[in-house]
Amino acid sequence: MSVKEENKNPAEAAVKEEKKTAAKLIPIYIMGKRYEVPEGLTIMKAMEYAGYVLIRGCGCRGGTCGACGTVYRKPGDYKLQVALACQKTIEPDMYIAQIPFFPANRARYEFAGLTSAPEEVFKLYPEMFRCVACNSCTKACPQGIEVMDAVSALKQGNISEAARLSFDCIQCGLCTSRCFGELAQYHMFQLARRIYGARIVPRAEHLAGMVKAVNEGKYDRFLDELKQVKEDELKKLYQEREAEPMTAGEDWKPKDTRYL
Ligand code: SF4
Ligand code: SF4
Ligand code: FES
Repeated sequence: MSVKEENKNPAEAAVKEEKKTAAKLIPIYIMGKRYEVPEGLTIMKAMEYAGYVLIRGCGCRGGTCGACGTVYRKPGDYKLQVALACQKTIEPDMYIAQIPFFPANRARYEFAGLTSAPEEVFKLYPEMFRCVACNSCTKACPQGIEVMDAVSALKQGNISEAARLSFDCIQCGLCTSRCFGELAQYHMFQLARRIYGARIVPRAEHLAGMVKAVNEGKYDRFLDELKQVKEDELKKLYQEREAEPMTAGEDWKPKDTRYL
């Protein structure tokens, strides 16, 4: 705001001055427009401070939902970089643009008709063979996933390895935004994990036993008892329940074995 404008609106100037003394303000550029925001904020908080109301491109705020993919460039650097807006802290004169949705190709399929055959994923995503092994995807990944290696595993038909390598993928799409081959790695990985979970990993036998017990009404009486309990008592029971310790071994059992 110029001196002339401040004279026109002294109240606004006073508020701005108060904000400046509360925290050191640094300049950043959001979608090409300059703002002064308190240093130390994440990109997401800085955008909100600047007046943006985020109804897309914002979810968990904790680095796990993948909704807040952002592109930025630092002054004097030609290189475009990517980050999660809820995790990356602002730096002076950063140029920022959010990509809350990336229109990557997502194959359509009837999952029930898919098998664990090695070619199952690359039949649906034949473009994976356009990969030129540049490794830009791996460098872009905020989860530290070996994205290129997971793509290579899929090309070799190794669905289990692709599922294992991509286990921490949060579907942010940042790998895709940097891909020379225009691959939608995260959609391919999601399919690999679905196939792995449903068709490759052995069934948990104890789970089948528990489902059978539930269906046969083994727990109906306990649930009916809980339904009769008042809310405060229910909270107390919940808080005092015996929880499995973090370091429990495979053979851990609760003292009260009625529900097993
Ligand atoms: S693999 Fe891609 S979509 Fe998944 S977390 Fe990494 S950059 Fe994001
Ligand atoms: S960015 Fe694309 S082309 Fe480059 S290694 Fe990753 S998947 Fe392959
Ligand atoms: S808001 Fe969920 S990862 Fe950033």
